[in-house]
Amino acid sequence: MITNGGAAARNPDTSDWDAATYDRLANPMTRWGRVVLERLPLEGQERVLDAGCGSGRVTEHLCQRLRRGMVIALDLSPAMLAEARRRLALFGEQVTFVRADLARPLPLKAVDAVFSTATFHWIRDHDALFANLAAVLRPGGTLVAQCGGAGNIQRVHAAAKAAGVDLDPTHFATPEETSRRLITAGFTRVQCWLHQEPTPIAPGEPLETYLRTVCLRRHFELLPVPDREPFLREVARRLKEPVIDYVRLNILARRA
Ligand SMILES: C[S@@+](CC[C@H](N)C(=O)[O-])C[C@H]1O[C@@H](n2cnc3c(N)ncnc32)[C@H](O)[C@@H]1O
Repeated sequence: MITNGGAAARNPDTSDWDAATYDRLANPMTRWGRVVLERLPLEGQERVLDAGCGSGRVTEHLCQRLRRGMVIALDLSPAMLAEARRRLALFGEQVTFVRADLARPLPLKAVDAVFSTATFHWIRDHDALFANLAAVLRPGGTLVAQCGGAGNIQRVHAAAKAAGVDLDPTHFATPEETSRRLITAGFTRVQCWLHQEPTPIAPGEPLETYLRTVCLRRHFELLPVPDREPFLREVARRLKEPVIDYVRLNILARRA
């Protein structure tokens, strides 16, 4: 059994994403992201940071709400940023692309709001993450986010463990610890809650591609190349039904 002492566990982004495949598979994240975006109050002229923009599918909807404003599409992955640049080209200078690590101080001027979907759980140090976001958010500015939360993809991780790769999923935080961290980082009017999003994926190749590209991306990095595809098939077999047991952590807060 491979456990989480490996490089991928210490640093969540040791390899780049398969951004084109992610873009194709990201229907669930886009659907949830659009619901989260509706929670962001906007007049249309604000400067908004999309923290972990990925391939830009949700960012595109954010841009449509900000015809007189600015979007900063930030991500650590060069492949994701390249995909986002293609998708968002029609918005011209309304979008600025920034490659940066959310776990480190951000090279940005103040923004009016921070929006983020399906990203925070990829970052281990949430104290640093929230401090970095607070540092670039103007006083009174809004944080609206959603990411994987406590209990997220537990069945998938159990199947991966049974198939030989045991990774610690503790970056799936609870609402209580997230609220405490946000308050410590300088946020107020904090609301955090979990909800379940069980998501069926077509069995066979689509499920294996989904697991490879999204849920088990980091597990993959731990395995020698010849072991990767048999591992995937074994996880898919152990899942029994092709449903990803997503649990989302929702976050609303204001910069004090
Ligand atoms: C699952 S994708 C979500 C993308 C998009 N927000 C969406 O909902 O489709 C997660 C994104 O977080 C980015 N990410 C992970 N860790 C990061 C970090 N430390 N700093 C910046 N971006 C990071 C990844 O590169 C990836 O593009």
